[in-house]
Amino acid sequence: WGQQGHRISGQIADSYLNPKARKAIKAILGNESIAMASNWADFIKSDSTYNYLYNWHFVNFDKALTQPEMEAYLKVDTIADAYTKINFLTIELKKKNLSANNKLLYLRMLIHIVEDIHQPMHTGHLSDKGGNDIKVLWMNNPSNLHSVWDSQLIDFQQLSYTEYVAAINHTTAAQRTKWQQASVSQWVFESNQIAQKLYADVKPDEKLGYRYNFKYIDTLNQQLVKGGVRLAGLLNQIFG
Ligand code: ADE
Ligand code: ZN
Ligand code: ZN
Repeated sequence: WGQQGHRISGQIADSYLNPKARKAIKAILGNESIAMASNWADFIKSDSTYNYLYNWHFVNFDKALTQPEMEAYLKVDTIADAYTKINFLTIELKKKNLSANNKLLYLRMLIHIVEDIHQPMHTGHLSDKGGNDIKVLWMNNPSNLHSVWDSQLIDFQQLSYTEYVAAINHTTAAQRTKWQQASVSQWVFESNQIAQKLYADVKPDEKLGYRYNFKYIDTLNQQLVKGGVRLAGLLNQIFG
């Protein structure tokens, strides 16, 4: 996601933390809210010390996989991608003897990556860089499929991130439990299923605008909410 998407999912996660997790996270982030901590991983991209984090933002699949095929692939996945790093960061953050520096780095990265894998194009094809190479027009301006999903559809709603959260953060406890109980590989599978649909539904240089927004905004909003709810579930499990 772009800045707004990350803040929206981060703020939603914040709304579902248990008191113990909230306290532990506050001890790590200080006055940085989860919404604001959500964008750190993109802000540091200009600093070459952090180049090794580049591939942590996405997990790519070159073709459509069934759920068993994806489970089998992820089980043996050892490359530095969003899936392996969510597992790594979850294990590390549970350790009692982690240094303060690593706690902060790992928490900011985990927050960001859980949000990112809910952006369908972050589980897209490596060959087109998750849709970055699929050129489209967004309201007559040159763009690409990745960017339309990272930012343009969200910015088109013309809401602040807090207004956006108020508009979409409506879930039942039963719904949240169901979403949180799914495994990380299921999160990735769901997101990839959406990505496959989006790839099939776009032509190179197509003009996307009002009609595309109408067709997909509910799907996009649900991914923002799911990302936030699942991030809260994971943080409650780690720190609660
Ligand atoms: N951003 C840059 N490269 C990417 C990729 N391969 N998949 C998703 N997002 C990306
Ligand atoms: Zn992106
Ligand atoms: Zn990212």
